[in-house]
Amino acid sequence: MTHGEAPRSPNPLWGGRFSGSPAEIMERINTSIGFDKRLYTQDIRASQIHCSMLVSQGIISPENGTAILQGLEQIMQEITDGLFVFKKEFEDIHMNVEARLAELIGSAAGHLHTARSRNDQVVTDFRLWVRDAIDSINQAATLLQKALLDQAERHADTVMPGFTHLQAAQPITFGHHLMAYVEMIERDLSRLADTRLRLNESPLGAAALAGTSFPIDRHCTARELGFNQPCLNSIDAVSDRDFAIEFLADAALCAVHLSRLAEEIVLWASAPFHFISLSDSFSTGSSIMPQKRNPDIAELIRAKSGRVIGALQSLLIIMKGLPLSYAKDLQEDKEPVFESADALSVCLTAMAGMIADMCVNTDVMRAACNGNITATDLADWLVMKAKIPFRQAHNTVGRLVKLAEERRCTLATLPISDIQKIEPLIDSNVYRVFDIDNSVRSRTSFGGTAPANVLIAVAEARRRLFAKSGEREKK
Ligand code: ARG
Repeated sequence: MTHGEAPRSPNPLWGGRFSGSPAEIMERINTSIGFDKRLYTQDIRASQIHCSMLVSQGIISPENGTAILQGLEQIMQEITDGLFVFKKEFEDIHMNVEARLAELIGSAAGHLHTARSRNDQVVTDFRLWVRDAIDSINQAATLLQKALLDQAERHADTVMPGFTHLQAAQPITFGHHLMAYVEMIERDLSRLADTRLRLNESPLGAAALAGTSFPIDRHCTARELGFNQPCLNSIDAVSDRDFAIEFLADAALCAVHLSRLAEEIVLWASAPFHFISLSDSFSTGSSIMPQKRNPDIAELIRAKSGRVIGALQSLLIIMKGLPLSYAKDLQEDKEPVFESADALSVCLTAMAGMIADMCVNTDVMRAACNGNITATDLADWLVMKAKIPFRQAHNTVGRLVKLAEERRCTLATLPISDIQKIEPLIDSNVYRVFDIDNSVRSRTSFGGTAPANVLIAVAEARRRLFAKSGEREKK
């Protein structure tokens, strides 16, 4: 105790064997109410279900049960209304709720904690919270999918340079490029759905670690909380945080996808590219350079992926040396998950807005398909029309490109007489292959960039999205 501080009494909820009070620093390091108050809905809900089960199993009296349920309802209201006073001395959300319950209903409150421990309680709340987070991230990601699909459809035949090594490689359609992100987000959603499925088991009733001698019904509480079944092993139930790590891994990968798209937006919106223009709502100005429009939102999305990746690292490192079962280290599991979920949600929503809102400068994209971007088309033409092996065709085109560069022109403007000096099999019909619209239209192989393919891909992706939202509504 520091000088002048009032004497403190032992914690009323676990202080039975204590005569001294916690040191001030002990309270500071031990308390988690500052962040775990975010679990209040899940905590109260799980307590209500636990209490009802205790009554129906004859473990506590119906009178105590009713008092507890009424008290919990009132606490829920107080918290929602912002009237609840969270106290550090009660450490965490569980004890804050229980302490308030005791204030409201007296000693009946003490029956609620029968046949459970904070160890199964906290991880039950946490699983429920992560489950809710997955559901809301799912919604945000679906809105992003929709925004991408709308733009992809609009730009199914908008040509732009496709890049490898950030060098103009071949003409592609912008719609096809955007559909690549639809694929990525779809995988992200499927990973989250998978995580949700494995997560959806109830730890409640595992008690401290060993289970309990009270005749509880774990199947009932699991069912009531929307879990598929109770966790099978009580030790695993209180010590496992795989679900949180899986969530963080899913989130990290999704954030990486968003970051790559954000990086492209930054490039596309830059003056040398000018492929897109961001609206006023998604740009900021510079306080010194009046001409500037900065893509801050894209930059922040790119940066926030750092936090999300960091959160995964944090929890993996927290977990790696922990002996079974519960240890207080596990209290540090929540902040990375909260931080990651918050960052990912805001990034998904911001990205959806930016994609829906961006203006695509189709003429600039088209003009950027310059130089010898259709050189591969010429090589393919030689293979198809002149029946030359591809390797040889590649070499011939290479020589033609070199000649065009020497003449300071392009393949498309090289006179046929010069072309024929290098390859007499080429005739003047060849010039159509340099047309960029022809080029993208010809890429009809499955998954290729042709506008017709893009429209089919958009329709199929919409159908999958629709089927998924239908399933969700049925649930
Ligand atoms: N606030 C704690 C946590 O988040 C609750 C569990 C505490 N359990 C214990 N045995 N001290 O992990």
